[in-house]
Amino acid sequence: MSVPAIRRAFLAVPRERFLSDVAAREGLPRVYQDQAIVTVFDERGAPASSSSQPSLMASMLERLELRPGHRVLEIGAGTGYNAALLARIVGARGEVISVELDPATARRARSALATVKSAASVVVGDGRDGWARGAPYDRIVVTASSPTVQFAWHDQLADGGLLELPLVLHRGDQAQVIVTLRKDADVLRSTAVLGGGFMALRDAPGAPVPSPPPSVAAHERVDGDFRSLAQLSGAALRGLSRTRRRQLLALALSEPRRRALGLRAPLPDLMLYLTIQAPRDRLVGGWPAIGVISADGDGLALLAGGPKAFTRIEAFGDGDAERLLIELIETWKHCGRPAADDLQVTVDFDRTQRSAVRMIWDC
Ligand SMILES: C[S@@+](CC[C@H](N)C(=O)[O-])C[C@H]1O[C@@H](n2cnc3c(N)ncnc32)[C@H](O)[C@@H]1O
Repeated sequence: MSVPAIRRAFLAVPRERFLSDVAAREGLPRVYQDQAIVTVFDERGAPASSSSQPSLMASMLERLELRPGHRVLEIGAGTGYNAALLARIVGARGEVISVELDPATARRARSALATVKSAASVVVGDGRDGWARGAPYDRIVVTASSPTVQFAWHDQLADGGLLELPLVLHRGDQAQVIVTLRKDADVLRSTAVLGGGFMALRDAPGAPVPSPPPSVAAHERVDGDFRSLAQLSGAALRGLSRTRRRQLLALALSEPRRRALGLRAPLPDLMLYLTIQAPRDRLVGGWPAIGVISADGDGLALLAGGPKAFTRIEAFGDGDAERLLIELIETWKHCGRPAADDLQVTVDFDRTQRSAVRMIWDC
């Protein structure tokens, strides 16, 4: 679908109808900021549903290559806003079915869709099973993140159809890429990869949202304002005792050895590369800092720089982490500095219908 058609859909579908509480409470300017807006929190106060960031929704709609008449399955109706945009784009000859796990969220989405006279329908179910009754679909779009590609999505997709989902890179972590995959018989092959993140798919209504990986942080309070001094998070911290984590935080607060990269490395590109290529038990991160620790946790090397690009390494403690980070950056450079879209993703399924995801850089 052309960009003008997506633009027309955004202009035709008022976001405030899907965020009526927010509009009433905080006004229209808030609704029309280019930000995700959380609409439901779970018992622990973690976000459980939201209206996604409009610019990210637009990029995803573009990559779905929608045409009038397409039959589309959405997983995660949330507010219903994306379902309304999809329905507008595929038109009266098309069909949009959106599966939502939480019955109350589904009810609100249906009411909102009715106010804009949208033909999209919302059903209640576990979207990991897709929605077999409406299959086959030309497009399936998942609007919550998943560490696996469900066989049902592949099975319910027409041959040549597109499946788009935020794919969690390592189970238990939050880092993800939004990948669009084309079905070619038994295999799914990526046609586009985008940076971005979504809340996780849950396995039961009310089930807690999966907890984020461990983190340690230090703040200072000046005149009542908190200022972050250092924050480390990620899978590498799982392998360290509480004392070792605190020692690592103390290292991060010490004076670093600074080494210029000699280039301006775009933040999202290098972050994604390191997230995929660095050994998982060595990776520490948290936007906008990313880096590695040494094998025994006695050293730390982080990328640093301006708001858009990394320009230097800041290293602490022993030199092992610094060497690993330099090696990874050299390979990224050698590879032609790949970005998200240079990542090729292939998915197939074994006899038990479990997905195997392969990711390789085009270099
Ligand atoms: C980021 S929101 C979706 C945004 C939505 N597409 C919109 O336009 O507002 C993710 C939604 O996925 C739903 N969800 C989580 N796990 C699910 C599952 N297993 N099956 C179906 N929906 C699920 C959540 O309840 C939440 O409403």
